[in-house]
Amino acid sequence: MNPVRIAPSILSADFARLGEEVRAIEAAGADWVHFDVMDNHYVPNLTIGPLVCEAIRPHVQIPIDVHLMVEPVDALVPLFAKAGANIITFHPEASRHVDRTLQMIRDHGCKAGLVFNPATPLEWMDHVMDRLDVVLLMSVNPGFGGQKFIPSTLPKLQAARQRINTHVARGGQPILLEVDGGVKTDNIAQIVAAGADTCVAGSAVFGAPDADGGYRGVMQALKQAAVA
Ligand code: DX5
Ligand code: ZN
Repeated sequence: MNPVRIAPSILSADFARLGEEVRAIEAAGADWVHFDVMDNHYVPNLTIGPLVCEAIRPHVQIPIDVHLMVEPVDALVPLFAKAGANIITFHPEASRHVDRTLQMIRDHGCKAGLVFNPATPLEWMDHVMDRLDVVLLMSVNPGFGGQKFIPSTLPKLQAARQRINTHVARGGQPILLEVDGGVKTDNIAQIVAAGADTCVAGSAVFGAPDADGGYRGVMQALKQAAVA
């Protein structure tokens, strides 16, 4: 069995020391850097853009997973690709032409994915399966770190897993299944059992007490709990 991938969300990092923070999570065993882009329009918060992505790029080798919570989407795709993003995901409601946006992300050399809010139906993926590298299920409403995991995400993960497995069984390309919001050591086992292979964790990682081994301690605890 493949170990679960952990993608710490730098939304909960110390932004005044971001280079140091991303180096520390990579050293602690992070698989991806999760990069939350919020525009105060699609979501009620405002965060970071391509300049910050470019600034952290030289500090880590691991992929940068850009989660776009912006509307519209398309103009930002080339900017993030140029800034060193490896994976770019967006919310289908925020793009007029979902198929075109997915294609544009791949044309810029990045892996492409759709993000589903808690109330967004999985049907959005049906006609674009062959254009997806990642499916990201939100387990909180997007906009803020530190929220509580919404339990109805578990059956939704199972449904997404089934769709992906059927697609692969029919000869389709692999698609990663990522979950974002409220992932902790005490619920990651259920999340992975429901079908997730990649977990975003913001407050769980960056809020880890030094006494418990800091970032390395929590990363190990998450990976161990995931297979337990
Ligand atoms: C929420 C963001 C998440 C968030 C996760 O809109 O997309 O990535 O930072 O943070 P935690 O793990 O604290 O829920
Ligand atoms: Zn996110």
